[in-house]
Amino acid sequence: MAVSESQARPAARAGQGVKHPYSSLPNWLYPTVVVVALSLFGVYTAWIVLFQPVGQFVPYLSPFESPLIKWGLIPPGILVVWAPLVFRGTCYYYRKAYFRSFFWHPRSCAVPEPARGRYRGETAFPWVINNLHRFAFYVIVVQVLFLIFDAVVAFDFGGRFGIGLGSALMLLNVLLLSGYTFGCHALRHLAGGGLDCFSCSTAARARFRLWKGVSVLNIRHDRWAWASLFSVAGTDIYVRLLMAGILHDPRWIS
Ligand code: FES
Repeated sequence: MAVSESQARPAARAGQGVKHPYSSLPNWLYPTVVVVALSLFGVYTAWIVLFQPVGQFVPYLSPFESPLIKWGLIPPGILVVWAPLVFRGTCYYYRKAYFRSFFWHPRSCAVPEPARGRYRGETAFPWVINNLHRFAFYVIVVQVLFLIFDAVVAFDFGGRFGIGLGSALMLLNVLLLSGYTFGCHALRHLAGGGLDCFSCSTAARARFRLWKGVSVLNIRHDRWAWASLFSVAGTDIYVRLLMAGILHDPRWIS
């Protein structure tokens, strides 16, 4: 049954036992999960980048340090981390997630938000920075290429082909990151935007096929976003557990 905005408002104000008009889950669950997960990931990232500069257990390299750039005393992660930070921070899905969860702006569809000053959308600092997303996309494509290279190297054990649990994790990580990156709304627009006719030329038809491919990944963009976030953290944790000698890398072929 459809729920109108006027029906949803009193329920939202009451604040207890309220459900999304479109979900059977309690309406506090999504924002809570987003706040907890993004906060933990942010704290973990800061700790790794600032205080744990070495993230390599040959042939595995932490995704937080790829590409591995050594420049003086600057921790390698700092030279790299800004790109995924800007890319994810300006991602259309994450924008929805953190605007709803951290700022309740708005908390969800058909739910009122706290009174605010003049609404300026993303036309003023700092949110105008979100318009940089397409440029962050170009940078992150380069980083994904480095991660693909790292995943290939993860099967090289002293010049011999091998497969360890780390190889599998690094491969999975780059697949999830590719699914997230190449389902980006900016790429979808690059592929199929600004065209009046998809069938009028060979180039337009090629762009239509590319647009359809990107759209397949784009449909579940939120899931790719979360899965790749966890796989980045998981791969990094695995590499550091190997470095600390807490885990030993199972090898199926070596
Ligand atoms: Fe999410 Fe571009 S919109 S990565």
